[in-house]
Amino acid sequence: MSVLPIYLFGTKVLRKKASPVQELDPDTVKLVYDMFETMRSSNGIGLAASQVGMLKRVIVIDISDVEEEPGAEGVHSSDTPPKKLVIINPEVVSDSGSWAMEEGCLSIPDLRGEVTRAEEITLEYHDGNFERQRLTAGGLLARVILHEIDHLDGVLFIDHMSKPRRALLRSELNEIKSGRVETSYPVVTAEEE
Ligand code: CO
Repeated sequence: MSVLPIYLFGTKVLRKKASPVQELDPDTVKLVYDMFETMRSSNGIGLAASQVGMLKRVIVIDISDVEEEPGAEGVHSSDTPPKKLVIINPEVVSDSGSWAMEEGCLSIPDLRGEVTRAEEITLEYHDGNFERQRLTAGGLLARVILHEIDHLDGVLFIDHMSKPRRALLRSELNEIKSGRVETSYPVVTAEEE
């Protein structure tokens, strides 16, 4: 397994649409392992393949270390959802409700912003064995899944913020774009891409 560098805001690959995975070939299996290793080493809770420069519809998620606020609205799903999962070729088949929460992103270091997303989603996807699965998720898990699916479509969380709010972040975004940012994990900046 290897830790892959994470592409930062400003790189072109983050704005491209990723392609569906046709089969679980050795390259895709290795990608999944490497993405878990990369996510662990950067303390992330979710990672999309686009963020490591691979335009494949692959997502890894691990929210097992996140303490959810007890009783917080929109945080609990109907049954016990998994905390760690491989999601390939995801499709949201239904969603309901909406709630706002502050998000961050490994591709946009040190920047956070409130994003409104669906409270509960039903998802169809291929798992790590490339078997088709259906999952109903709520709260944080639903949020992370939606954030990562956005990455596969070239969308970043800042795109969901209002124009005035995003304008306030312009200078920070420019710093990241020009590579003037420090991270505890290896990255690829727009200049290096
Ligand atoms: Co992200």
